[in-house]
Amino acid sequence: MKLIFATNNAHKLSEVEAVLGDGFSLATPRECGITEDIPEEQPTLEGNASQKSHYIYDRTGCDCFADDTGLEVEALGGAPGVHSARYATDGHDFEANNRRLLSELAGCDNRHARFRTVISLIEGGEEHLFEGIVEGRIAESAAGCGGFGYDPLFIPDGFDSTFAEMSAEQKNAISHRGRAVAKLVDYLHNRAK
Ligand code: IMP
Repeated sequence: MKLIFATNNAHKLSEVEAVLGDGFSLATPRECGITEDIPEEQPTLEGNASQKSHYIYDRTGCDCFADDTGLEVEALGGAPGVHSARYATDGHDFEANNRRLLSELAGCDNRHARFRTVISLIEGGEEHLFEGIVEGRIAESAAGCGGFGYDPLFIPDGFDSTFAEMSAEQKNAISHRGRAVAKLVDYLHNRAK
């Protein structure tokens, strides 16, 4: 089965490819002639994932999927949420985002937060949504140099270390994206039988 994954991030692509296994081949938008940035202008993760998968489907007619992720901090009413990539600046400045998050939470005892990923799959013209969540808390200061984004500040429940202090395998086994992808893979494997 051939699927387009609405990402040009080679790391994400190989991660999902490895989990999907034989019988599935993934293509990037670029490989299908879509070279422009895919719009994500919606106010929710579901809306953005859906906008991206529909954008690909409308132009190719091929089965495809897209993901969107946000960090939802309880004491900040769910922010930065859908704005996670551009929390501090217009670019994807991870360090500035982390600085802003720490300053917003300064003196705050409620550090509870979660990462949430939504995947929108369009298969045979029908949309299916899959959600992956990991609960945790925001550390008082950054630790670790692995991963990306908010990883140095996020301590998943049941652990004392941040995502940035874990190996990629450890993180993927419990992460929001890992869990959403596992649901997608489950669906596709059962569907293909
Ligand atoms: P995207 O939807 O996967 O592009 O994620 C949006 C933003 O959420 C990223 O720019 C990061 O700031 C943050 N983010 C997403 N996934 C992770 C993660 O696994 N760890 C840390 N930050 C993440």
